[in-house]
Amino acid sequence: MQDILRVRDVSKTFISGSRELTVLSEVNFTIKEGGIVAIVGPSGSGKTTLLGLCAGLDRPTTGEIFIFDQKISHLDEDEKAAVRNQYVGFIFQNFQLIPTLTALENVMVPLELQGNSKIARSRSRELLDRVGLGDRMTHYPSQLSGGEQQRVSIARAFSNTPRLLFADEPTGNLDGDTGDNIENLLFELNQEQGTTLVIVTHDLELAQQTNRIIRLKSGKIISDQLTLVHGSSSIHH
Ligand SMILES: Nc1ncnc2c1ncn2[C@@H]1O[C@H](COP(=O)(O)OP(=O)(O)O)[C@@H](O)[C@H]1O
Ligand SMILES: [Mg+2]
Repeated sequence: MQDILRVRDVSKTFISGSRELTVLSEVNFTIKEGGIVAIVGPSGSGKTTLLGLCAGLDRPTTGEIFIFDQKISHLDEDEKAAVRNQYVGFIFQNFQLIPTLTALENVMVPLELQGNSKIARSRSRELLDRVGLGDRMTHYPSQLSGGEQQRVSIARAFSNTPRLLFADEPTGNLDGDTGDNIENLLFELNQEQGTTLVIVTHDLELAQQTNRIIRLKSGKIISDQLTLVHGSSSIHH
């Protein structure tokens, strides 16, 4: 299996006024295509920042990040958008749905950006059905509960059939049963489409079902271990 994500000596420092805040330092890991990796750690340990850097939503202060052989950390905005469109899905911790679009239209956006307008509507309907929102397609985000918005964002993240999916606390706003359904959906898509999953989670039960757990603390990796679940993911330092 190919390396789908390589993170090399990455650090991130935010500057606010005269103060510097180092949120990530010397982070290194590599993920092979097809695996399921959990990133866990206390609130404020840098998980969301790390995911954003990996998806090219922000730039590291030092270090490099590759998606396949594309140096996502150093491409220009247009090039990054093209890589994201081709390979990446992202489930945001705060959903980031477009408020002026219905649930269905939100899910259609990545497909339309990909130039797949023809199948956009039917595929998006299918995905919304799958996350249990078949009867909410024409609702706007403000008309949906937090958990429902989260499910729309999950359907959207899958719509362009990404090879690499980043999920930031994907079950964080869901009750037990809905959370379990979403977990199953993520795992099914990994099985069916070979989608590599990188899941930030507080849920240790979910983390234990992945192939590998990376623990962050104060912006550093404090452990990186395979779980007992067999899978294609393996560690390369
Ligand atoms: N844009 C930013 N500017 C300044 N500080 C930030 C910014 N984004 C995140 N931080 C800080 O970085 C730290 C890590 O945040 P985050 O990555 O969201 O952690 P986690 O997802 O693990 O809870 C926090 O202390 C947060 O306040
Ligand atoms: Mg976070």
